[in-house]
Amino acid sequence: MSQVLLTGLDVGSTYTRAVIGEYVRELNTPVLRVLGVGCTPTAGVRHDSVTDLEEAARTIRRAIQEAELMAGLRIDRVYVGVSGDHLEATRSVGVVAVAGEEVHPRDVKRVHAVARAVPAARGRELLHAFPQHYIVDNQPGVKDPVGMAGTRLETQLYLVTGCGATLGNVIRAVERAGYRVQDIVLEPIAASRAVLSEDEMELGVATVDMGGTTTGIAVHFEGRIQHLEVLPYGGNTVTSELIRGLSVPFAEARRIKERFAAGSRAIATRETIRLDSGNGSGREVAGEFVAQLIEERLEHIFLQIGRKLDDVVAPTSTLGSGVVVTGGVAVTPGIDEVAGRSMTVPIRVGTVGTDISGLVDRLGHPGFATATGLALIGADYYGETGSGATTAGSGVAARVGAWIREFF
Ligand SMILES: Nc1ncnc2c1ncn2[C@@H]1O[C@H](COP(=O)(O)OP(=O)(O)OP(=O)(O)O)[C@@H](O)[C@H]1O
Ligand SMILES: [Mg+2]
Repeated sequence: MSQVLLTGLDVGSTYTRAVIGEYVRELNTPVLRVLGVGCTPTAGVRHDSVTDLEEAARTIRRAIQEAELMAGLRIDRVYVGVSGDHLEATRSVGVVAVAGEEVHPRDVKRVHAVARAVPAARGRELLHAFPQHYIVDNQPGVKDPVGMAGTRLETQLYLVTGCGATLGNVIRAVERAGYRVQDIVLEPIAASRAVLSEDEMELGVATVDMGGTTTGIAVHFEGRIQHLEVLPYGGNTVTSELIRGLSVPFAEARRIKERFAAGSRAIATRETIRLDSGNGSGREVAGEFVAQLIEERLEHIFLQIGRKLDDVVAPTSTLGSGVVVTGGVAVTPGIDEVAGRSMTVPIRVGTVGTDISGLVDRLGHPGFATATGLALIGADYYGETGSGATTAGSGVAARVGAWIREFF
């Protein structure tokens, strides 16, 4: 039998990552066996929007080819993540009369279509529509209405739209790199898919995917997405703090920041750090001072995130499973402790979950959560429909966006 391959592509503003996985069944459970991963510094993308098509395409090609080389296979299509402040979310209600005695899947489809049929603003495209709950006759809070007796079916959808031109440029960059876009998924949704358990989503949890220039937030409650948001700041504000506080150039500030993350904070605070000021001159600074700059900035970011969460989940303490921090910044040692000082909920660092196998050790860096989640979403879709994957004989597959819009 030919292999079924799913590829996630996360074009971040700092790094572009690709994960190629094979859809397999282990002990009758679908699992994504990771065969290849790629990671390359991004060029041609700013704040998660393509600013130079040629450069972005080259970056994408490099990341995917690295993963292909590791896997010893070629792929033809990807699930690509999008983020950025062009994304917007709204809620919309739809009502239909139930056709028969009981609610049929066709009625559910129809009520979704009605709720989705809000006139989109010019130049905007619908990315996702998440059912929030259903009302069958007078019974509210229904999770799955199929089979229930009733005459009237109502639903509320959480709709996410993006700027058509911005999304179009992501697709163009992927195509110019020589691949096809199977579907576009919001990055915080993909990260959540990779790092959260179903129990956490049921109890209430916020995924905080902190990258270089953006922080994606996804709040799950009672098993469904309740809130999505992309904040226009991330780990680079820590770098900026070091540039200011230590008077060093960007590259040196980032090197120092990431070097700190590589060791334990307790050791770092006892040592002195040699700085390269960019003009050949060097000087030394106490590790403790650097650690303090990093921590204060991170605390400030988490305070802002905490306030944001209080606004949308009022209050944050209702999130039974707390906050899961992931993305590149999450490798900073002690980040859970720092975040815990700013937010009064349980905090954990999210790395990829249990329904994957293969080269799992290559995915230990939480920066891989989004790319892995994209491949997992592809695997979910394949499990459901038997399509959307790269297979040995795969020709041109239909675009399958509709499924994700409806169900994921
Ligand atoms: N070892 C490390 N220690 C501390 N920070 C790190 C480390 N490795 C990466 N980072 C930081 O993580 C950020 C990049 O994270 P990530 O790779 O998730 O970003 P991205 O997805 O490219 O960005 P975005 O999601 O904003 O588009 C940068 O600010 C980088 O400096
Ligand atoms: Mg990212």
